[in-house]
Order: sequence, then structure tokens, then C-alpha cells
Amino acid sequence: MDEDPNRLVIATRNAHKTQEIREMIGDCFEVVDVTAFPDLPEVEETGTTFLENATLKALAISRELEGLVLSDDSGLEVDALDGRPGVWSSSFGGEEGNHAKNNERMMREMAGIAERSARFRCVMVLARGGEVLAHFDGSVEGRILDEPSGAGGFGYDPLFAPEGHDRSFAELGAEVKNGMSHRGRALAKVVAWLGDKG
Ligand code: IMP
Repeated sequence: MDEDPNRLVIATRNAHKTQEIREMIGDCFEVVDVTAFPDLPEVEETGTTFLENATLKALAISRELEGLVLSDDSGLEVDALDGRPGVWSSSFGGEEGNHAKNNERMMREMAGIAERSARFRCVMVLARGGEVLAHFDGSVEGRILDEPSGAGGFGYDPLFAPEGHDRSFAELGAEVKNGMSHRGRALAKVVAWLGDKG
């Protein structure tokens, strides 16, 4: 496949992540994810940190495809749960990628707990040709709500109110979320880095 300098492949099958990234930098790049390449292998996330998993994904996909590959590993750290679910956020409820079950378990574990501080974290790795070019991180502080509210976003968004807001990410909508989210902050660093490199 010829390298398209304007293409950025996101090393994810999570359409929500891809959509957020597209909304944020879609005018600079043609943003596609690995669902556009059905023959690519599934990457096992065997790391114990966001950086390890993001690196695994970026390297595996950039070995298979031409051009720039960007991975995102992200999750929710809850202080009262000693930082859980962290890198295991997507399977917290027992079933990989089942957001409803993840939120149910979060509500169960947080029931009756007054200390509700938490943060979303994101690590992005940019790679090309099986080599890491750079990595970037972003986070947003907030708190876990008692009840889910709102229909926007994905994952734990209905249960997470970012600092300075009483409403959840799911209620605040894409523009507010992207402007302050862990992913938005990491991506701003990616864009600045790419800009520096011309
Ligand atoms: P990953 O695909 O292994 O990085 O897992 C990411 C998981 O973290 C998702 O499945 C969600 O459970 C959670 N997560 C990451 N970013 C967000 C977000 O922006 N909103 C809500 N949940 C998120």
C-alpha cells in the first residue's frame, strides 16, 4: 500500500475513540482506524501500564501498515479504589467493552463512599514502520457521580463529572468533552509535535 502522508491510522477498534480523534484533528488528517484493514492481527493488551499497552498497539499496527500510526490507551483511575480500574477499565464489569456492565460495577463499588475523586488518563504513542516516534499523555481530574446521567460520549462518561462541572461528560457533549478531556489533551501534544516536525 502506498503511504498517504495525510493518513493517520488509529490503532483501535473502538469507534468512539476514533470519532473523538477525528472530530479533533480531522481537518489535518484523514483519520481511519484498524477496522478499515480487516486482515490486521488482533493486538493483545498484555501490559500493566497505559504506556506499555499503547506501545504494543502502535508497534504491532505500524509493522503491518505504511505511514503514521497513533495508538490510544486510556482508562479511569478512582482514588477510593486505589487507582482501579486503570488499564483494566474496559473489562471492569467482567466483559470486555461492555460499558453498561462497567458502569454498574463502578456504581456498586462506589456505593456509600464519600471520597469520589477520579481521573481519566490517556497515553498516545505515535509510530511508523515498527518504531516509536514519540509518546504523549493527557489527563482530566473529576469525580464519580452517584448515578449515571446523559446520553453522549461512551464508556464511563455518564458517571464522570470533570473538575469545574456538576454535569457528566455524557451530558456536557462532545465539544466541551473534547476541549478538556484526557484524549483531547494528549492529542493536542501530538498535533504540536507533528507541527514541529513539519
Ligand atoms: P482501552 O481501549 O484498552 O484503552 O480501554 C479504554 C477503556 O477506558 C474504555 O473501554 C472505557 O471503559 C474507558 N475510557 C477511556 N476513555 C474514556 C472516555 O473518554 N470516556 C469514558 N470511558 C473511557
